[in-house]
Amino acid sequence: MKFLILLFFIHSPLIGHENMDLIDSEVVQERMISMQKLNKLMSLANKKIKKSQLDDETVDIFSKIEHIFIDYPSLFPDDSFQGVTKASTDIIDNRDVFNALANEHAINAGLAIESVKAEDIDQLKIYFNKLYSSCKSCHSRFRN
Ligand code: HEC
Repeated sequence: MKFLILLFFIHSPLIGHENMDLIDSEVVQERMISMQKLNKLMSLANKKIKKSQLDDETVDIFSKIEHIFIDYPSLFPDDSFQGVTKASTDIIDNRDVFNALANEHAINAGLAIESVKAEDIDQLKIYFNKLYSSCKSCHSRFRN
């Protein structure tokens, strides 16, 4: 108990500051979670393609991928580049480029959906590969 009280006093001068960090880190947390989801969705999509399963579930996977990238640029407010984040401050200075990359990703996901609906596996593979290469192009420029 004494230890807990001591801990409280050690930390109390920082409380105001910590609350601010919490607000910032919520959005950072949110964008990390959306990337982790994206990672899982991409491997699910890969499995579907390998099994040539172009069904409603596959459409659903790509539409989730599409939505992640429609929302993604809004998760980088100017004050969210401190602490645990690996996002480069380059995003602040080059929002046009960053938003265009996210948009390109959303468009490719949309075209992947069209390919699934048309049951065109070759075309689907093309858009899936495009999705994969845009991970690298965005990370190499905008992730530290
Ligand atoms: C438009 C740019 C952009 C694209 C496209 C993009 N990412 Fe990211 N990604 C980022 C940024 C920026 C971060 C770092 C975010 C942070 O730490 O605040 C990140 C972080 C991540 C992380 C780490 C998440 C964590 O827990 O810290 C994973 C995993 C990831 N991305 C996977 C992917 C995959 C897979 C793709 C492609 C299918 C992809 N990303 C496409 C910008 C992008």
